[in-house]
Amino acid sequence: MDFYKIKGGKKLNGEVAVSGAKNAALPIIVASLLADGETVLSNVPNLMDIKTITRVIECLGAETDYDAEKNVLRIRVENLRCAEVPYDLVKTMRASVYVMGPMLARLGIADVSLPGGCAIGERPIDIHLAGFEALGAEIDIEHGNVVARARKMRGANFIMKKVSVGATVNLMMAAVLAEGETVLENCAMEPDVVDLGRFLVKMGAKINGFGTERIVIQGVKKLSPASYSIMPDRIEAGTYLLAGAITRGDVKVNRMEPDHIGALRETLGEMGFRIENGKDWTRIIPATKLTGAYIKTLPYPGFPTDLQAPLMSLLTTVPGISVISETIFENRFTHVGELRRMGASIDVEGNMAIIKGVKRLSSAPVMMSDLRAGAALVLAALAAKGTTEIRRIYHSDRGYEKLTEKLLGLGADIERVKGGTF
Ligand code: EPZ
Repeated sequence: MDFYKIKGGKKLNGEVAVSGAKNAALPIIVASLLADGETVLSNVPNLMDIKTITRVIECLGAETDYDAEKNVLRIRVENLRCAEVPYDLVKTMRASVYVMGPMLARLGIADVSLPGGCAIGERPIDIHLAGFEALGAEIDIEHGNVVARARKMRGANFIMKKVSVGATVNLMMAAVLAEGETVLENCAMEPDVVDLGRFLVKMGAKINGFGTERIVIQGVKKLSPASYSIMPDRIEAGTYLLAGAITRGDVKVNRMEPDHIGALRETLGEMGFRIENGKDWTRIIPATKLTGAYIKTLPYPGFPTDLQAPLMSLLTTVPGISVISETIFENRFTHVGELRRMGASIDVEGNMAIIKGVKRLSSAPVMMSDLRAGAALVLAALAAKGTTEIRRIYHSDRGYEKLTEKLLGLGADIERVKGGTF
C-alpha cells in the first residue's frame, strides 16, 4: 500500500484549481439511470468513489466510458435491469444506496445490500426508506439486503425527521417519475442537492425549491438524457485554503464557488486571516495575529462536518483555546488520536473537542481512518517539524483528485511512496 512522506514547515504559496465535486457527481451519475440514452457528464473527478459508483450502475445494465484525462464520463442506459447491488460495493461506498430512488422510479423494484455502520458513525438509511414508503413502496430486509417494491410510485407529502443529504437526493430521484405531486420538507440545502436538481431539470424533470427546505416535484412520464458539467468541490476548495492557513502561506484557490464555503471563510476571517474573493476564486493571506475559534458543524449553510477534521488541524497550531462541536456524525473525531501523536493538545468530551494551540506540531507515523480525517493528517504534516509518514492513504484517494500534484504545485514537500508494510 502506498504512503505519503511529507516534510513539514514549507509555507504553501501559489494557485491551485479545484476538481469536480465528488458528492455532487455521485447522485448525478446515478440519476442518469432515470432515462434511456446517453448522458455525458464533464468535470467528473478521477476518484475511487467515482469508479465504485460506475461499477454500481453497471451492475444495473448501464454502460460507462470514462476519459480520466478530460474528466468526461459517458453513460449509456438501454437495458436497465433489476439486479442486486452487492455488499462488496455498498460496504466500500454507502452512496451506492442512491440507486434505490431511480430503480424504484423506473422499474418499481430495488435490491441493495443494506449498509452497516461506518468509520464516522452508525449512518442509518431509515429516512430514505420512510420516504420511499410514503411514495408507495414496500420495504423488506431480506438476507442483509434492503428490497423495495412498488406497483406504482405516487406523489406524497413527506417530512424528513432530520436533515439528510442522502435522503433528500434519493427521494428527489424517486419522485421525479412518480404520479402527481411530491412535497419534501426539511430537505438538505447543500450545493450538491442543488447540482442534482439542476441536472434533473435538464433531463426534463419538474422540480422547484431545491436549495431550500421545501422541494416540490411534479412527476413527469419520461425523462431524457442530458449533458451536464459537475460543480466544483467545495470541500476540496476548503481543504486547500486550510492548507494555506496551517502553513501560514498565501494560497489562491481557483475554479471554485466562494459562496459554497461561506461558513469556512467566516471562521478563517474571525481567526484573523485575510480572505479575498473573486467570482470563482478565494485567496487566503497569512495573518500576524491569530485567535482560536468556536465552531459547531451543521447542515448547509452551517459549518460543514467534512471540513471539521481539517479545521481541527489548523486550530491545533493557533494560540489559545478553540472548541469544535460535531453535531452531524457521532464518531467523527478519529483523527484526534493521530493528531495527538503529532503533539496536538486536544481533549474530547462527548461530541466536543477542546483544542489548546501548541507552538509547533512534530512529525510522527500516523494512519488515516477516513477521507476527511486523512486530509487533516496531511495538513498537520505540512505544518509539522520533521518528516511525517501517513499510511492508509486509500482513504484520501476516495475524495482528493491529484492531491500530491496539487500540493507539489503549491510548494509542499510531499512524496507518494509506492508500497509499504501496513
Ligand atoms: C453526505 O453523507 C456526504 N456524502 C458526506 O460526505 C457528508 O459528511 C454528509 O452528507 C453531511 O454533509 C455524500 O454526499 C456521498 P446525511 P450522507 O444523510 O448523505 C443521519 C465525505 O467525507 N441520518 O446528510 O450519508 C446520519 O446518520 C462524506 O465526503 C439518519 O439518521 O449524510 C447523520 O447523522 C462523508 N437517517 C445525519 O443524518 C437517514 O436515513 C446526516 O447524514 C439518513 C441520515
